[in-house]
Amino acid sequence: MTQDELKTLVGRAALHYVALGEIVGVGTGSTVNKFIEALADIKGQIKGAVSSSTASTERLRALGIPVFDANEVGELAVYIDGADEIDGRGYMIKGGGAALTREKIVAAQSRRFICIADESKKVARLGGFPLPVEVIPMATQRIVRQFQALGGTAKVRLKDGRPLVTDNGQHILDVTGLQIGEPLAFETEVNQWPGVVTVGVFAHQKAAVCLLGTAGGVQTINY
Ligand code: A5P
Repeated sequence: MTQDELKTLVGRAALHYVALGEIVGVGTGSTVNKFIEALADIKGQIKGAVSSSTASTERLRALGIPVFDANEVGELAVYIDGADEIDGRGYMIKGGGAALTREKIVAAQSRRFICIADESKKVARLGGFPLPVEVIPMATQRIVRQFQALGGTAKVRLKDGRPLVTDNGQHILDVTGLQIGEPLAFETEVNQWPGVVTVGVFAHQKAAVCLLGTAGGVQTINY
């Protein structure tokens, strides 16, 4: 099976976790795009979605799925999103699509995080994928030096030769060379560096379930 087929498979499998009659939290990325396509098939049976990015909002609306502001609704039953890496405890690296801040907000607003991923995302230890960190531009070089002190190399993510600007008007650093053995402690520490908006380690908002697309079908992992 191709990676695209695996994404379609887990995107459809996630429908099983959608609470009918309710509002579902929707993430961002190519795997979630498959979920959004599947969600359109049952759009008459849900109230709508809270979205984690302008890209997902546009897709949802184009398929006739109502999108609510996070502030208009209370706690959500489930949040469905992909990951760049997921370890054996359900801790993740996210933000490859630069949507990590809103993803963490909607995940925090939801009772359960259902991660949908193809098997290439499963790792023994986080840190192989460059860690995305959303930062206030004024603090960039200071944060670069703080990562250097931890043994990492941080680079500003570019788009068309200029720093990429997130949905929140900020920049992204991608950090290589880190071994993240203690994701909870790491997330807590980096989160409190001045100028860090969001670190792309999702340990406090870890997955409750991972639907992993494998050659043998969808593997359900509960954490
Ligand atoms: C978006 O900012 C990310 O957190 C995505 O969830 C992650 O990059 C997975 O994306 P794909 O499904 O495209 O691999």
